Amino acid sequence: MDASLNRLSLTTDGMEDLILRMSMARGLDEIMAAVRQSARKLIGADGITFVLRDGNKCHYADEDAISPLWKGQRFPLETCISGWAMHHAEVVIIEDIYQDDRIPHAAYRPTFVKSLAMVPVREEDPIGAIGAYWAEAERPSEEAVRLLQRIAHSAAVAMTNVSLIDSLAAAKEEAARARDAMILAMASLAETRDHETGNHIRRTQHYVRALAEALKEHEPYAGQLNDDIVDLLYKSAPLHDIGKVGIPDCILLKPGKLEPEEYEVMKTHAELGRAAIATAERYMGSTTPFLSLAKEIAHTHHEKWNGTGYPRGLSGEDIPIGGRIMAIADVYDALVSERIYKPAMPHQQAVEIILKEAGQHFDPGLVDVFAKIAPRFEEIHRDFADAA
Ligand code: C2E
Ligand code: SIN
Ligand code: SIN
Ligand code: SIN
Ligand code: FE
Ligand code: FE
Repeated sequence: MDASLNRLSLTTDGMEDLILRMSMARGLDEIMAAVRQSARKLIGADGITFVLRDGNKCHYADEDAISPLWKGQRFPLETCISGWAMHHAEVVIIEDIYQDDRIPHAAYRPTFVKSLAMVPVREEDPIGAIGAYWAEAERPSEEAVRLLQRIAHSAAVAMTNVSLIDSLAAAKEEAARARDAMILAMASLAETRDHETGNHIRRTQHYVRALAEALKEHEPYAGQLNDDIVDLLYKSAPLHDIGKVGIPDCILLKPGKLEPEEYEVMKTHAELGRAAIATAERYMGSTTPFLSLAKEIAHTHHEKWNGTGYPRGLSGEDIPIGGRIMAIADVYDALVSERIYKPAMPHQQAVEIILKEAGQHFDPGLVDVFAKIAPRFEEIHRDFADAA
């Protein structure tokens, strides 16, 4: 093959590699590294700089050159040629820098540079510039300038992508924090209305996670649980009793045993909770895995394995796994804690009650796993004890 054709095809391949690398970059550093590692050779220059606009300064952020240029330095926009290129949004080609007044000659004297081409990054409102430099005072070839423009254009696209990805990630993180704060605010609303629940909400959250973590290692639950679902269970558990907000004080705070008709009212908290979260979904215009799990748990945490629970009398595996896990966590905590209507009981007695209820109130497979990790429940209860 003709030597110049050969060089052309190598250049084309190199250019495609560079563009691909920039387009896949996940940060500005990766974009600049891609340019640093291949642009100089592709263009046939003696030096390359990557300049970022930083307020009214030009920041010489990165370079690759036969001897040092200005890496790490900042110059006022109006006194450097990259500033001129950004300000005018124009390509600058200078055959002999010492014949051009736009060049701060003092800054160039310690360097090898005699000629240059400077291309703004982003045609509209440039955010940077890429410079190519030569040790000879001769006009940079059209080919070199054209390649430099392509690199600058791809860098602009890549930088826009990176900033979109960054702002998307920041927005997602903010939404996640807002969600977590709202959950705790809503849950604490239920808590302040309820009798001595104190840390009930925090504890049930931890029991649920401990049980779900252990279940991940056991069939048939392993296939229904993974780290994401365990995390969602942990986050949605605090809302299980949100419906208690709708229960009148005379029932919710009654010191003694509920009359049957009072208990009927009390039982509506499962449906009230489901409806509240369904309302949140309606306002959102869609659901999320978090909301649908939280709704499911609020709705089903009082169902019983043998079908005698409420509100729907579901049985067995018709009860969603989240509701079955929550049932054990909720009852364990109710048993070992003092309630306005009952004293606390010792850990061991609570465990015995739960074991006895396997296949009646609770999923027997879940109770087996609970039995193995019961000491962890005792620990969590101690760690998040109610204030005396
Ligand atoms: P909670 O106090 O968080 O209790 C949750 C669940 O733990 C109860 O659901 C029940 O299944 C179990 N549990 C609680 N205490 C005992 C107990 O001493 N023995 C046994 N074997 N299980 C127990 P349940 O019964 O559907 O109650 C739901 C909610 O209704 C309770 O939440 C509580 O807020 C309220 N509640 C239930 N019974 C009474 C009561 O007699 N008086 C008052 N004031 N509230 C009650
Ligand atoms: C776990 O072991 O990851 C759950 C228990 C806890 O959160 O304290
Ligand atoms: C109650 O304590 O009134 C509820 C009884 C139960 O279902 O555990
Ligand atoms: C619902 O759709 O009501 C929540 C899911 C469930 O309760 O099973
Ligand atoms: Fe409940
Ligand atoms: Fe509860």
